[in-house]
Amino acid sequence: MQSELRKKLLDAFTNSGESYLSGQYLAELIGCSRTAVWKHMEELRKEGFELEAVRRKGYRILKTPEKITADEILLGLTTSFIGKNIHYEESVESTQKIAHILASKDVPEGTVVIAEEQKSGKGRMSRNWYSPKYTGIWMSLILRPNIPLTKAPQLTLLTAVAIAQAMEEMTGLTPEIKWPNDILMNGKKITGILTELQAEADRIHSIIIGMGINVNQKKEDFPPELQGIASSLLVEKGEPISRANLIKSIFKHFEKLYLLYLDQGFYPIKLLWEGYAVSIGKMIKARTLTNTIEGRALGITDDGVLVLEDSNGVIHHIYSADIEL
Ligand code: BTN
Repeated sequence: MQSELRKKLLDAFTNSGESYLSGQYLAELIGCSRTAVWKHMEELRKEGFELEAVRRKGYRILKTPEKITADEILLGLTTSFIGKNIHYEESVESTQKIAHILASKDVPEGTVVIAEEQKSGKGRMSRNWYSPKYTGIWMSLILRPNIPLTKAPQLTLLTAVAIAQAMEEMTGLTPEIKWPNDILMNGKKITGILTELQAEADRIHSIIIGMGINVNQKKEDFPPELQGIASSLLVEKGEPISRANLIKSIFKHFEKLYLLYLDQGFYPIKLLWEGYAVSIGKMIKARTLTNTIEGRALGITDDGVLVLEDSNGVIHHIYSADIEL
């Protein structure tokens, strides 16, 4: 995790825009010596930041590194708690596993685990999630909302909206959401969300939201079995997207929606979700763990449950399934 001094330093650059910040100013602001400021700046340089140091003016950050670093995410991050504690790893089995361990150690709400690569990324329904190095966003966010267990799935829908809004902001393209948690572009999946809980009786200790976002993979980078069904922002937009900027945008949209949700409940989120929904009103097949139900998707309830009407007019409430359009 980042030292508090480093966070303050990056906050100062976040607010300074193009201006130079002098060593003296930074030292006073963050409460350390000028030599300590210089050491932090050298560490940033080693991480791949391009810095300018001009006599009598001070420091300026010109360029951030290609690889995602926790420092790069903190630089320009405008949230107050989402993403403020970053646990960054180069290569892991699964960010979910690490987030589960951290969550049981009482780390603050909003802590996030980010990895450049996952060796055995977890998807829904015990599937694998393909997570190659340096091209995607593989991260798990720890939340501690005071809500009943039954409402936890609403946070999956909220996350999908936050990611869709961030993608729109960053690419100008509008994604679609397939209930409950797939984000699609041109019918292909570019994001999956996996929500897991730590709870006792009816009390949620923490919710761990895993997000897998295909950002800069080329079509041929996907294994053949995924090429027909998966895509990336690079393929859809035709140009690479900064992963760090997308992460910051997701954190910003997430925090705003999450605070709205805690204050006003799921209804305003539901309206936003419906604006991106692709399955509603259509004939779909819902494959649950035990059976498959075919029918028209009528919408989602105020709790985020999918409502389906089959050909006999019977209404089904679907809590968890894979949807085929
Ligand atoms: C899905 O099956 O659609 C959900 C995929 C979720 C993948 C993400 S990547 C980050 C986090 N760590 C994991 O092992 N899985 C989730």
